[in-house]
Amino acid sequence: MKYKIFTYGCQANEHDSERIAYILEKLGYTATDDEKEADFIAYNTCLIRENAELKVYGHLGAIKKLKREKPEMILAVCGCMMQTGPARDVIKEKYSHVDIIFGTGNIDKLPELISLHKTTNQIVVDVDSYIDLDNGYIRAHDFTAYVNIMTGCDNFCTYCIVPYARGREKSRPINEIVQEVKNLANRGYKEITLLGQNVNSYGKDLGHTFPELLYALDAEVKNLDILRFMTSHPKDLSDELIEAMSKIDMIAKHFHLPLQSGSTKVLKEMNRKYSSDDYKLLVRKLRDKMPDICLTTDIIVGFAGESEQDHLDTIELCKEVEFDSAFTFIYSPRPGTPAANREDQIPEEIKSRRFQELLDAIYPIFNKKNKAELGKTHKVIVESVSKNNDEMLSGRTFSNKLIHFKGNKELIGEVVNVKVTSHTSFTLEGEIID
Ligand code: 5AD
Ligand code: SF4
Repeated sequence: MKYKIFTYGCQANEHDSERIAYILEKLGYTATDDEKEADFIAYNTCLIRENAELKVYGHLGAIKKLKREKPEMILAVCGCMMQTGPARDVIKEKYSHVDIIFGTGNIDKLPELISLHKTTNQIVVDVDSYIDLDNGYIRAHDFTAYVNIMTGCDNFCTYCIVPYARGREKSRPINEIVQEVKNLANRGYKEITLLGQNVNSYGKDLGHTFPELLYALDAEVKNLDILRFMTSHPKDLSDELIEAMSKIDMIAKHFHLPLQSGSTKVLKEMNRKYSSDDYKLLVRKLRDKMPDICLTTDIIVGFAGESEQDHLDTIELCKEVEFDSAFTFIYSPRPGTPAANREDQIPEEIKSRRFQELLDAIYPIFNKKNKAELGKTHKVIVESVSKNNDEMLSGRTFSNKLIHFKGNKELIGEVVNVKVTSHTSFTLEGEIID
């Protein structure tokens, strides 16, 4: 029996797919890349922006033919979209070839859901729980792993659907996380990424803080090369965290700090709870303690009510801060979120124009930042053979920049020293040195 999982969205979903794969393999399934030979197909969905959702519907429509030809194949849809009633209703009404719907909180129940479907031959829907803290799952790679430290989000940014889909914040106990990271490091994992929607507020529900977790990991885990975390929220970025990050060697000197907008007015309307000055101060503090820190961000263009001046404020802030890289998004009103009901939505053509203006402003900065890396030597974790060239390997610097270099594929999973020899705005190129 074979399975194939299609994963949309963020690292939380990627990790959930690893967990689903683990369960399927315990049930005797093996992975395949070819959906035509799969006996079980899962779509692990994302709903953060409208196009993420449309992609899933498109793929579900396209798979209908295969399901008709092979009715015994089990088709499951899971992930964030299935945590919302309207998306579930669309699946039940328009995509009746789907056999199982489950949520982010009940991945562990998959074996039961499969057997229930097999015995009843009815659609099985189970999405009740939000609690999905994991333990002991296999990972897609054997050198780098995600570890959930918390689930959910309490922030309710007015554009964002995540708190409705993944529920309230819930942290895992420190000792459980430490044990899991220790086990992974002992099994030879070199890089661990701690995952949560807002890791900076980790532990609030347990009377702990995120820096406490980092110090506990530093004290207990001896044989790990790189510890990463994501995502952060500027409102919860404490001086203690900056201190911990600068002191603990194994923590990657990379901070992903979503800005969203450079206008204090827009930030207020987004319910972000910081001003553009607060943000700039945090950047100064980070760079004071760690001058070489790599700083990346998320920016939303065209939020409801965004004026031309607000947009220019975002561009101005980007020019001042000089991010190493950024994920940029056009605002997508998500039904059920407060901002989607606003009447002052920005027309699509203005959003696209502003989006292009933002890219025109930030790409030269990324280029300048990468140029400054020329001649420097970085420790790099080798990830894979390069997508575009068989003779090249791809990896990430400890500061999280993508870098390509010549090398034998046996180096995948190893840490090597690479000297930067050339660059584009988005990647570095280099050569391995001893
Ligand atoms: N429209 C556009 N971008 C969004 N994001 C979250 N919700 C939306 C939305 N409705 C972006 C934010 C967040 C990233 C993961 O996705 O920038 O940080
Ligand atoms: Fe969404 Fe804001 Fe929570 Fe991030 S912090 S998941 S943007 S509500």
